[in-house]
Amino acid sequence: MAVPARRGGMSRCLICDGALERILSFGRMPIANGFLGTEEFAREYFFELGVGFCERCAMPQLVDRVPREKMFHAHYPFFTSSSARMAAHFEDFAKGVMQNHLGERDPFVVEIGSNDGTLLRHFAVASVRHLGVEPSANVAAAAEEIGHVHDLHSLAKGVGHLLKPRGVLIFEDPYLGDILAKTAYDQIYDEHAYYFCVTGVSRWLAPHGLEIVDVEPHDVHGGSMRYTAARRGAWPVRPAVPEQLQMERQAGLHRRETYDGFRGRVEKSREDLIELLQRLRGEGKRVAGYAATSKSTTVLNYCGIGPDLVEFISDTTPVKQGKFSPGVHIPVRSHAQFRSHHPDFALLFAWNHAAEILEKEREFARGGGNWISYVPRVEILDPLRGRETRESA
Ligand code: TYD
Ligand code: ZN
Repeated sequence: MAVPARRGGMSRCLICDGALERILSFGRMPIANGFLGTEEFAREYFFELGVGFCERCAMPQLVDRVPREKMFHAHYPFFTSSSARMAAHFEDFAKGVMQNHLGERDPFVVEIGSNDGTLLRHFAVASVRHLGVEPSANVAAAAEEIGHVHDLHSLAKGVGHLLKPRGVLIFEDPYLGDILAKTAYDQIYDEHAYYFCVTGVSRWLAPHGLEIVDVEPHDVHGGSMRYTAARRGAWPVRPAVPEQLQMERQAGLHRRETYDGFRGRVEKSREDLIELLQRLRGEGKRVAGYAATSKSTTVLNYCGIGPDLVEFISDTTPVKQGKFSPGVHIPVRSHAQFRSHHPDFALLFAWNHAAEILEKEREFARGGGNWISYVPRVEILDPLRGRETRESA
């Protein structure tokens, strides 16, 4: 059973307990990272994937949440280090922290949700005292109560206790503004319980005596924001913070109506993708998925795309290979099989790594293979000329 954020039949905001208005419904959804074998099909876990919005908090959030043990367990298959680009990004992140924030004597770095240590090992190499906290027993040695955090207030309270007077909390997450601007609805899945923007994060932290002192957009994970927060008054607030808040007001991230427009674009994206894949099937083309991402679970299940439209998904993560994708049960195969099977089209489920992947897979394009992306719109990419052509389906 999913944990409904409901009381008295109404959905409640998990930040302020106010009324939550449903802005999106994706229907019955499996666990995003729940890759499984045929023997597990019969007892696959499903929940209702829906997003609610609270105008007081400006924090879109899942209406029904999945119990953590269903998501993070000894077979959790996501490893940060699977992307070269992400590994480089975290190295820069660690170096930035060491340069800008570790002026104090005997600094101590705690990483909440440390996955396989891709970030933390840079502090280890530099002999900085450090601690990683990670809920998936196979990804980390230490399993603790926090990680992918459902209760944001207890997290902020904990951080308030942990931080030195001039200590900082730095975190980064797919940015709500990018999700809306790119119609990247596939960022919405069980592990992402909240969708953050500067407005929402400021309002969440304020009651804990914390404020955002800096924000910095990054283009990883399809558009992320890095937030630096500290005790109120401990550090000057950088101009980027009020600037971003102003942009968010203009984009209407605090207004419910904004999400009605988003819903319309999500529905259009679904129609376009189904139409394109059905047309290709009609033409006898073979389509494979590229990268069995968490994001792909939302897209495939919401659009109802199964093995009849996407033959298999290729992925470099050994524990996903030989299994089936959650819900729609498309087989996951190795990258070597992608190379040897010569599909006509590759549906790019790791669109956030497009540059890295298109570069790596030049052979596929040279051999006549085509890339399909669905973010920011459904289209066939033109990898050889390095720019995108609009799909005129
Ligand atoms: P990511 O976008 O981080 O996934 P998620 O949506 O789960 O956050 O991509 C990681 C997944 O993509 C992982 O299963 C490995 C796979 N992948 C490939 O198979 N080949 C690649 O070249 C890259 C970059 C990722
Ligand atoms: Zn609220």
